[in-house]
Amino acid sequence: MEQRPITKVIRKQTERTNEMEHSSPLFLTSSFCFDNTEDMRAAFADETDDNIYSRFSNPNVKEFVDRVCLLEGAEAGYATSSGMSAVFASFMAFMKQGDHLLSCSAIFGSTHTVITKFLPRYGIEYSYVNSSKPGEWEAAIRPNTKMIYIETPTNPGLEIIDLEFVSSLAKKHNLILNVDNCFATPVSQRPVDFGADLVVHSATKWMDGQGRVLGGVVVGKKELIQDIYLFCRSTGPALSPFNAWLLSKSLETLDVRMERHAANAMKISEALKDHPKISWLKYPFLPGHPQYKIAKKQMRDGGGIVCFELKGGVESGRKFLDNLQMLSLTANLGDTKSIASHPASTTHAKLTEKERQDVNITPGLIRISVGLEHSDDILNDILQALEK
Ligand SMILES: Cc1ncc(COP(=O)(O)O)c(C=O)c1O
Repeated sequence: MEQRPITKVIRKQTERTNEMEHSSPLFLTSSFCFDNTEDMRAAFADETDDNIYSRFSNPNVKEFVDRVCLLEGAEAGYATSSGMSAVFASFMAFMKQGDHLLSCSAIFGSTHTVITKFLPRYGIEYSYVNSSKPGEWEAAIRPNTKMIYIETPTNPGLEIIDLEFVSSLAKKHNLILNVDNCFATPVSQRPVDFGADLVVHSATKWMDGQGRVLGGVVVGKKELIQDIYLFCRSTGPALSPFNAWLLSKSLETLDVRMERHAANAMKISEALKDHPKISWLKYPFLPGHPQYKIAKKQMRDGGGIVCFELKGGVESGRKFLDNLQMLSLTANLGDTKSIASHPASTTHAKLTEKERQDVNITPGLIRISVGLEHSDDILNDILQALEK
């Protein structure tokens, strides 16, 4: 009987060495040796897939990528030093001067900066489509559109985009569909199953899950990943073997961790949704979420992020954060420790007020990355901070 993806992920690892280790060893080496010039020539000529240099490939990085491919149901992948280098490579390996990128408007702040400030320097055009208005997507496609880029759920507004719908548009117009799957993780949502060509991740978040290292990965169709590999091999955003070793080990527990993160997030959402100091609360698996039906169609669970708007705007938001006693104020998400953040003054501060409004980043928006502490303790800290 065919093994389930999670079993394959846990059992897939670098070939055992003569030491007969059970857990994968760390290949902390910049380069690899050859017995003779002929073997070295063949490796450089791509006649073998022997490791040459850790900017190109490394056993720990390969193990991490292979595991992400199994989780995502993807053919191939390349791992990078951070989520942003994965996002950037997934643009630059395919886009050239005169091409157009169509993106959902609600995206992570640094991705927004890349799209609006850096891509135009290379003559790459872009336009945004309101994530919650699917009717606008097809009209925004131009003759020079090359790629559709989406995040779902979006950071930080938790909007859900219908993967099946966007994928059918991409197919119809022969475009590359590139999905940032960081918030859902592959244990909850597999964009490839809905027709995505590329899937990018900040492995720094839930994949590491313990706030230790930066990492990124792009997976997808083999021929597209070959272009990403060639771009990265020359430009150098390689994932360090140490980070790959750590991230790969973390993938063994991703499924079980995400189950608990999502269960905690659901409990907290239900307990807070009608709180008198909160004007609205969003969680993809709460029936009141505007795209609840789509979330249910394409996700296993609602993920580990909850967001809400405090009555009283910026001031209430700041007061709430200052009153928290246990939740951390830190610029990360996807940790065992619960984290609270205020996107308008931090991750999305570089957007104009109008741009923030367009992507529903309201002044009092609070994002909670729900950790693995007991849900009652997380909730009690939020409640006491609200009540002060
Ligand atoms: C959705 C999303 N994509 C990409 C990134 C960038 O990842 P990294 O910080 O690993 O570069 C982040 C970081 O928060 C993110 O939330």
